[in-house]
Amino acid sequence: MPMINRRRLLGTAMAAGAMAAGVRAIGGGAAEPILLSPGPARFDLTRRGMTEGMMGFTPDGLPPVIRLRQGVPADIVVENRLEEITTIHWHGMRLPVDQDGVPWLTQLPIGAGETYRYSFTPPDAGTYWYHPHCNTLEQIARGLAGVIVVEEAEPQPFDADLALQIRDFRLGGDGQFIELYKPRNMARGGTLGTVSTVNWQVAPVLTAPAGGLVRLRLAVTDVTRVYELSLSGAAAALIALDGQPLPAPEVLPVPLILAPGQRADLAVVMPEEGREVLLGFTKTSGKSELLATVRATGASLGRSLDRLAPLPPNPTPLPDLAGAERLDFTFGWSPDGTAPDTGGFCGDVPYRFWSINRVPYAGDAPPDPARPGRPLAALKQGHSYVLRMRNETQNDHPIHLHGLAMHLLGPDGRLSGRVQDTVLLRSHESAEVAVLADNPGDWVFHCHVIEHQKSGLAGFVRVL
Ligand code: C2O
Ligand code: CU
Ligand code: CU
Repeated sequence: MPMINRRRLLGTAMAAGAMAAGVRAIGGGAAEPILLSPGPARFDLTRRGMTEGMMGFTPDGLPPVIRLRQGVPADIVVENRLEEITTIHWHGMRLPVDQDGVPWLTQLPIGAGETYRYSFTPPDAGTYWYHPHCNTLEQIARGLAGVIVVEEAEPQPFDADLALQIRDFRLGGDGQFIELYKPRNMARGGTLGTVSTVNWQVAPVLTAPAGGLVRLRLAVTDVTRVYELSLSGAAAALIALDGQPLPAPEVLPVPLILAPGQRADLAVVMPEEGREVLLGFTKTSGKSELLATVRATGASLGRSLDRLAPLPPNPTPLPDLAGAERLDFTFGWSPDGTAPDTGGFCGDVPYRFWSINRVPYAGDAPPDPARPGRPLAALKQGHSYVLRMRNETQNDHPIHLHGLAMHLLGPDGRLSGRVQDTVLLRSHESAEVAVLADNPGDWVFHCHVIEHQKSGLAGFVRVL
């Protein structure tokens, strides 16, 4: 069987930073296509021996960081080495719908042994991620998730650039997978993993230049956990959320809450040589746990946050609030928990615990791709909408919309300056977002707690 090509590594300090975390960078403007070959993998996640039954994008497992450049066309070839169908979705990227990677809705799934080519030009710079959109309760849970870095068209003034993929694996004491979910958790907050990792390592130690200005890209790719993060040992500012630059750098919120699917870019000033910056999170038990350490090395570069400029804005068009139509979305339990028989496509589960506007999604993969079910709403291309989103349950729901940017409204009902692809609604919370329906197609709208998504909290909106 043909194995993956070894991609050329970038010789830059940025790639070196990524390498320090044990992750290769691929892409970076290379003319040749980027190759991903999802398939079986094993990896020493716990440093107590190999975890078997993983899935990775390379034979040795570790998900590469894909580095693209804003406005530069990219070709990504996916060689499916799995024994099941898959697709790859480019989470957060505003792409033409035929590149969105949703089985049946936007493309036919990639069969076992098949090769498929995605071609697109990233319109926005920032931190994104990639993952299958099929049987995700297995495929993401077993490892198929990676970070995408889209470099700004103009280089930014950072001394290092580190991508940290934050996620759990559900392993027993022997380092092997245990049941990936429990139905009783699926009907509640979801089934948490047991081993928290950064770039597939437990508490890795990375390095960055002392006194340097570091761009730390945090991506939570976990299937369940809402991470309450904290950073200590350095001055830091929040500069982007979900890939989209903030209008001005902000003081880092404590804790920084990142739900499944979300990303945050931080600008961090490293301390003096030998000192450490610690990234940790608070567990549901209230205990804190170390996720990663960044150690300062070399003579101090003497940078500070004083004159830190915002990142250049992305060309995300603004919705027109005055002319916007209101649409209501209620995320709730399912009126009855039974599941229609969808033929078991893409890891469909036999439960429907959740719903959007009281309708549980029939499944990721309707048996007849010509009839993908009914959209939750039909949006007119070029029109603006305010989505009023309400969580009527006590559980957290990170609500993710494909293809269209969600502009968060503030309490005054105006644009807050935050543009996100995933909006976390905690217990009984509501939020309003404005959306300009500029991108025609069927766009999936779902909770990114994958157990919720698979058991009904999903649907799609149609832009025509
Ligand atoms: Cu992260 Cu529907 O995707
Ligand atoms: Cu997505
Ligand atoms: Cu949910």
